[in-house]
Amino acid sequence: NVVVGSVRTALGWVPAQWLPGGTPDPLIERRAAIGRQASRLDGPQKVAGEARFAAEVAMDRLVYATLVHSPVTRGRITRLDTAAAEAAPGVTLVMTHRNMPRLGTLPLIGVSDLTAVGNSSLPIMQDGEIRYNGQVVALVLADTQEQADHAAGLIELDYAAETARTRFAEAKAGARTPASILIDKNHVSIGNAERELASAPYRVDYLYRTPGQNHNAIELHALTVAWQGEQLLVHDATQMVAASAAALAKLFGLKKDDVRVLSPFVGGGFGGKGLWDHQILAIAAARLAGRPVRLALSREGVYRIIGGRSPTEQRVAIAADAQGQFTALVHTGYSVMPPYGACPEQYTMGTRSLYRARSVEIVQRHIDLDIVPNTFMRAPGEAIGTFALESAVDELAHAMGVDPIELRLRNLPERHPISGAPFSQHALGQAYRDGAGRFGWERRKAEPGTRREGEWLIGLGCATGSFPYARMPGANVRLTLHADGTATVSCSAQEMGMGTATVQVQHAADRLGLPIDAITFEMGDSALPAAPMAGGSCQTASIAGAMAAAADKLIGELLRLAGNDTPLAGLRAGEVRFADAGIAGIAAPARHETFRSILARAGRETVSVTAAGSMPLEFLKFAMHSSSAIFCALRVSGVTGEVRVDRLLGSFDCGTILNPMTAASQFRGGMIMGLGLALTEETLFDERSGRIMNATLADYHVPAHLDVPEIDVMWTGIPDPRSPLGARGIGEIGITGVAAAVANAVFNATGKRVRELPITLDKLL
Ligand code: MOS
Repeated sequence: NVVVGSVRTALGWVPAQWLPGGTPDPLIERRAAIGRQASRLDGPQKVAGEARFAAEVAMDRLVYATLVHSPVTRGRITRLDTAAAEAAPGVTLVMTHRNMPRLGTLPLIGVSDLTAVGNSSLPIMQDGEIRYNGQVVALVLADTQEQADHAAGLIELDYAAETARTRFAEAKAGARTPASILIDKNHVSIGNAERELASAPYRVDYLYRTPGQNHNAIELHALTVAWQGEQLLVHDATQMVAASAAALAKLFGLKKDDVRVLSPFVGGGFGGKGLWDHQILAIAAARLAGRPVRLALSREGVYRIIGGRSPTEQRVAIAADAQGQFTALVHTGYSVMPPYGACPEQYTMGTRSLYRARSVEIVQRHIDLDIVPNTFMRAPGEAIGTFALESAVDELAHAMGVDPIELRLRNLPERHPISGAPFSQHALGQAYRDGAGRFGWERRKAEPGTRREGEWLIGLGCATGSFPYARMPGANVRLTLHADGTATVSCSAQEMGMGTATVQVQHAADRLGLPIDAITFEMGDSALPAAPMAGGSCQTASIAGAMAAAADKLIGELLRLAGNDTPLAGLRAGEVRFADAGIAGIAAPARHETFRSILARAGRETVSVTAAGSMPLEFLKFAMHSSSAIFCALRVSGVTGEVRVDRLLGSFDCGTILNPMTAASQFRGGMIMGLGLALTEETLFDERSGRIMNATLADYHVPAHLDVPEIDVMWTGIPDPRSPLGARGIGEIGITGVAAAVANAVFNATGKRVRELPITLDKLL
């Protein structure tokens, strides 16, 4: 499978020397603002309530929308009476498949096109067919939300129900292993893993199950939309501003420049805030009504029409020789991915890069059910795949009587185990050693169930987290220098609360040799140069690459404007760099002229350049992954089976940390989501009816303040020489590894191995 001297790329095996090596970003060495603690620039606006979210934008003659969802899973509408709803007070429009404009379907993310945005390619209210439970069958517009809600209840519908596919176990018989263009193949086979398993002195071979989960961002999915003639203005809660605008233009047959999507602030996205039916429906209704429309999904509505994480059944088998070297690594399983969905739930991603093994067998199978398609949810695949893999490693360590950290360190690979590519930077061993030291791992008792304090059994556990680095093509940034010596950075990127603007302002300051307060960052508007979606933990690197390219272009432009009457005269672009609010010779730093001076002499108010980031070839040549060592200390009540987590520590290896404060918050937020994954979150899907039963935050449990212990985070901070700024993504790594660390600590406390999430108390009694 591995071609020596070559690396596997999206184009197949390519000799390594064909690909560029990636010159290290000079800012890795020359940092001033980057790496410093800096408060979020959007903090004061948020705290003061001045940040306007999509459902808060004021518009004249605004009407409010309510959706009606199908209680039937499969079938068709046989009777539809909207008369009472249309006659109800304040009602402007009732829209059903009868009057909904005829539209095409959305291209799916990743499947047809990496810049596409659709999460589902099902038709949107185009016919009377019901394809999943919760599908929207009607939309009501009224002068107030209450009037719309009331009228929605007056719509009379009958359905002819048909048998739906809703049972995971039954659907396994029809599983597919489709080719995936997302990163790697769904089937990898090296050596003969089953034979190695059969003959090994040590082996574990178990099934692990993870439930479906739903998105619960604080801000509900919402938009406020207005048509101005043939122009469309959409204030949307979205993590993909530019791609949404392009897709909406195509779907509604508009010119690209006639659609403007604005999304300066998003109250949490986590992969769920893409383009779904509700935006299309609200935009269509606004056109029919000739009025601006606001649609905010109810919390239940999010469960009904926004996909979540797929349930999985995973087999992990590991064999080891007498020295504890892995001889076989098997990770196979099933997730639900209907053919009209886009998210392959890559739960074997971590398994591909974390361990060296003589034989490897990886197969991901997809099954079809009649459901709203699953979608990207913080570390889709990795979060649940590392639960299975890292539980199994812990089980093997226990079977062998070896410390689980020691077993992992013995099997760290020198090169990527599947592709053979060299790691760009990989210090998981150091992350483990540093984390173990700070956590006090030596206090762990190897024999489970032997530490007791009153009714409580005490346990410590650890696990590895992993997430691949990526950088998106198609990132664009505009840099504008002003006569007063300040600069504006513009791109359509979104701020979902992770500090996008803050770190890019730090970046621009260092890139341009300016102080932080001289930089303004414009974002969240599709009229600005297009940035890729905030997803795949790659927004920061994608924008950083484009900003570096724009800065290079700006140097050329400034040298041209500076002319010959300057200390810089005769220097070429490669011989100067940004320094001290201007440009200086690299070899002769005294040859310097400020931006102010260059612009004043040229008689210019501004100078502006736009550039796209280079093709992200670095991760085709090098194996680039963020990784972590997660440690957990907890108590399990011997009386009730209740689990209380006392301490979590995350030790991360993610390249340069650009801002310690925003990074620590990202890591902690991810780890809290990991706690939910481990202990509380579970979509209760009724396999008889195909309906989600716990579509409220009262019934679907996310960790509350009292569930969240002290969370300590630390990092190696070693720059990645092949990424812009030396940074890899940090948005999703925090959640990975946490569920296994908790499960492993539960085993250490009780001697009970729970292989099915969430670890609720009934599983421990
Ligand atoms: Mo993330 S699941 O790529 O928003």
